[in-house]
Amino acid sequence: MPEQRLRPRVWVSQPLFDDVLDRLRAHFEVFVQPEVTMHTPRQVAAALAPVDGALLTLNERVGAEEIAAASRLRAVANVGVGYDNLDIPALAAAGIVATNTPDVLTETTADFGFALMMAAARRITESERWLREGRWSQWSFENMLGSDLHDSTLGILGMGRIGQAIARRARGFDMRLLYHNRMRLPAEVEGRLDAQYCDLDTLLAQSDHLVLVVPYSSTTHHLIDAKALAKMKPTATLVNISRGGIVDELALARALSEGRLAAAGLDVFEGEPSVRPELLALRNVVLTPHIASASLATRRAMMSLAVDNLIAALGCGPRAGCPPNPIRV
Ligand code: 8YV
Repeated sequence: MPEQRLRPRVWVSQPLFDDVLDRLRAHFEVFVQPEVTMHTPRQVAAALAPVDGALLTLNERVGAEEIAAASRLRAVANVGVGYDNLDIPALAAAGIVATNTPDVLTETTADFGFALMMAAARRITESERWLREGRWSQWSFENMLGSDLHDSTLGILGMGRIGQAIARRARGFDMRLLYHNRMRLPAEVEGRLDAQYCDLDTLLAQSDHLVLVVPYSSTTHHLIDAKALAKMKPTATLVNISRGGIVDELALARALSEGRLAAAGLDVFEGEPSVRPELLALRNVVLTPHIASASLATRRAMMSLAVDNLIAALGCGPRAGCPPNPIRV
């Protein structure tokens, strides 16, 4: 007798909060990775082969090879707004729906971008390390001089949801706001944010603090390279909360060590979780382990939205067949 499968099977690539998992278990037979795992492409392919759907993170890269044996796979729900880990055309060609989790992480990620900018510009982590090393022997006028945020020019590269949320925060700091984006914002939105559009060269040249929130793609790969860095002010701060591959990290490390850029704050890295020794060796860069969306409430909201997407994409629940956040090819 052929095997009877009553419920679709779903692979969850990393551990999730239990109550969120229970919502999946109400509809599916769920296989959860019990521990946080850096999956190899072969492990991803093996895990996808027998399932109808998968809930994935940026730790899992999925392209034509990983889905070659996944004949039942109909949907993958990415936990995260970025989806450069997914080969969307390859998934679409195989009839697999892909979804992401926009909106729910916007404010938390913008908060963190601001925190990283302040930490880098005002040398917070550097001075804390110095203090803990027992090197503070006397207060002095010149110790740990940084650069101001208030009354400075903030440049935002990528004016999507997160860029705009950073722009809203910048107004409270009386910052002048410049931005560059693939598409210029409507005049009404520019007016509301008090943001001025400019080309990339002007953004690089005029920003006192530059925040990168542009999505990663072949077009934005190493967009901030040695030439771009050379156009920035030597007193400027660079913050990356998007994807590591947008910055040529070796060129950045050189600019920081040669005093051609004052400071940087990086939450994302090209080869994460490994971080280049050239960056680790520098005192004027704040390094964090890809945690911009990591508040308890937001991580829960991201998981929960990914679960909504997967349930709907696999034809269950109140939105059966209409997941809230399909990724268009
Ligand atoms: C996530 C992120 O933590 O949403 C994104 O694009 O980079 C982070 O907020 C990560 O993607 C988890 O998969």
